[in-house]
Amino acid sequence: MRGLFITLEGGDGAGKSTQIKNIESFFEEKGLLVVHTREPGGTPISEKLREIVLDSHNLEMKDVTEMLVYAAARAQHVRELVMPALEKGHIVICDRFLDSSIAYQAYGRGLGDMVGIVNAFATGGLAPDITFWMDIDPDEGKRRVSRLGDLDRLEMEEGDFHFKVYEGYKAIAEGDPERVKRIDATRSVEEISEEIKKYLEQICEKRGI
Ligand code: TMP
Repeated sequence: MRGLFITLEGGDGAGKSTQIKNIESFFEEKGLLVVHTREPGGTPISEKLREIVLDSHNLEMKDVTEMLVYAAARAQHVRELVMPALEKGHIVICDRFLDSSIAYQAYGRGLGDMVGIVNAFATGGLAPDITFWMDIDPDEGKRRVSRLGDLDRLEMEEGDFHFKVYEGYKAIAEGDPERVKRIDATRSVEEISEEIKKYLEQICEKRGI
């Protein structure tokens, strides 16, 4: 049986990492093998591409180049790690996936439909079984991230970039409510964990896990 592909999305500072740990424990308690990975990254080649795309010195990087580097990292990650793990029946939890490219590059950078077209090749058609969108106001997200110290190239973006990204996530969630679950990330960690757990129980029941 193919495993489950779970992704977490959201603006920076939405608290994805804490929830990923909780999701991991949920499946480990069921005795299932969990692969925890991230985008951009997850394999040695994709991690190198991550360094390039997030490097705060690469200010000359063009929007199209940025979009293609994310897609290239994804193409490698999907084929080298995600698909093989799913084929073995593992649970794959991924910190960001294609929705990030739609929100940040299609909406944030204004690259539009091109992003979906390129990424259809990059993903080979692979889509998550369920996605948690950690919904947080972009201003609050920015405040939380700034407290953490050094910012990467995307986090440094000013102006309305992060609001456009937010609009992107909203559109994705509204367009695919079956897959994308909006999680109000302003609540306590416990409340958020409980809600996510409910969704996980539902999907496990549906898939006979
Ligand atoms: P993070 O791993 O700390 O969330 O950082 C990754 C950054 O890259 C984050 O600002 C979102 C951005 N990003 C994109 O712009 N497009 C993408 O396709 C992905 C996966 C991430």
